[in-house]
Amino acid sequence: MKKDKIWKGRIKSPPDIIAEKFTQSITIDRQLYREDITGTAAYAIGLESIGIISKTELIEIINGLKKILSKIEAGDADFSVYEDIHSLVECELLKIAGEPARKVHTGRSRNDQIVTDELIMLKQAIIEMLQSIHAFLDEVLTKAQENLTTVFPAYTHMQKAQPVLVSHYLLSYFEKFFRVASKLLICFEDCDFLPLGAGACTGSGYPVDTGLLAKLLKFSKTGKNSMDIVGSRDFIIDFIYCCSMAMLGLSRFCEDLILYNTFEFSLINIDESFCTGSSIMPQKKNPDVLELIRGKSALVTGNLIQIFILLKGLPSAYNSDMQEDKKIFLNSYRETIESLNIFKAVLKKIDFNGKNMPGSCKTGFMEATDAADYLVKKGESFRNAHNIIGRIIRYCIDKNLQLKDLPLEKLIEYSQYFESDFYNYIRTESSIAAKETACGTSVSSVKKMLSYDKKKTDRLKTAIDGLNKRIPVLEEMISEYK
Ligand code: ARG
Repeated sequence: MKKDKIWKGRIKSPPDIIAEKFTQSITIDRQLYREDITGTAAYAIGLESIGIISKTELIEIINGLKKILSKIEAGDADFSVYEDIHSLVECELLKIAGEPARKVHTGRSRNDQIVTDELIMLKQAIIEMLQSIHAFLDEVLTKAQENLTTVFPAYTHMQKAQPVLVSHYLLSYFEKFFRVASKLLICFEDCDFLPLGAGACTGSGYPVDTGLLAKLLKFSKTGKNSMDIVGSRDFIIDFIYCCSMAMLGLSRFCEDLILYNTFEFSLINIDESFCTGSSIMPQKKNPDVLELIRGKSALVTGNLIQIFILLKGLPSAYNSDMQEDKKIFLNSYRETIESLNIFKAVLKKIDFNGKNMPGSCKTGFMEATDAADYLVKKGESFRNAHNIIGRIIRYCIDKNLQLKDLPLEKLIEYSQYFESDFYNYIRTESSIAAKETACGTSVSSVKKMLSYDKKKTDRLKTAIDGLNKRIPVLEEMISEYK
């Protein structure tokens, strides 16, 4: 049986062993030990400032908390005997500091305490996620720069569509992930509030100096409504949404690369160090890492659904169902960061020069739209031009020819607008060069985009460095209490 229940007064009968095991959360929230100790230290400083505890008691509490931290970090704490991390800290403190420990929970509840722990952890998780995304974006930019003028097919409906620069293709993923980073920055601001002072649900019965606590714990604002504070987990949903968006982007990127790496496409080579063989088929080189990221994206997206459903039927304020949120949060956080980091490593070693790469734009009539555009520039309407080229392509398919193989006399049978400059117009390089809109694939547009994206990445780095200063550091906070 677990030791000291901090709520033992009211409940007379010893806990049912199975119920006790079932209701505990220490197996998960033990990961929040540093956050819980930091929150408790700040709270104790706050209690001293309003005269609930004396300076001597505060110092005993702080020293006790330091010892608990060292004990946990040395691997000497027995988590198994406690219900949750809050009970562990309070009970261990009682063992070390004695009576003052009994005052540390004055005007606080585990309901506002757990949200405080979670928010401190979440702010760090957001920073870590942003750092991974930043490194990922950096790699995408490097890869795009390396493959600036390499051309390969863009597909729509999984059919060859138009030639595109590999760099342009890669930068499409820059956009997706930069959006996730922007959302995470908003998420950080939204979750940057102090929950303490909310108590169990209606506020604290003591004049808790929430301004001081916010300052100590580096929250930029204080929570506004106690019932909302203890009863909402919007911040977890927002974060898991960002994780899901990152995983969705990774999943699609993986799917592309898995396809492009197949024998059939042979557009890229995935480095062998990120592949595995088959136990039976000697020839296999399977892109497992990418397949697993694609698989894990399902789990993280599942987590988003789980957190919604967890909260969907809950009445106001705190309910124990919410205890389950940490499994979902921590799992999403770890899986997403791990996936981002390994994907970046795979990408770094991808060679965009597969066997079929040089000839990849020669077949599939990817110049058809350019051919229609050619006629439009000569005076034809687009709809007619589309129809004319469509009929010419049907002819080419029948005769097993490419557009460029048709002599001018043949082309003129379809339209008087054809002239000898047509052949140059439908070359792959011309097709690329024609896409000069700012969002298009011409080399000049992509170059501009690359330099713009580099600046955006640098600015993101500065923003992340700024956030780092907004995480409470226990050692700093308690340095004057010796
Ligand atoms: N273990 C709980 C959680 O993780 C915190 C304590 C909530 N309060 C309570 N009375 N059970 O959400």
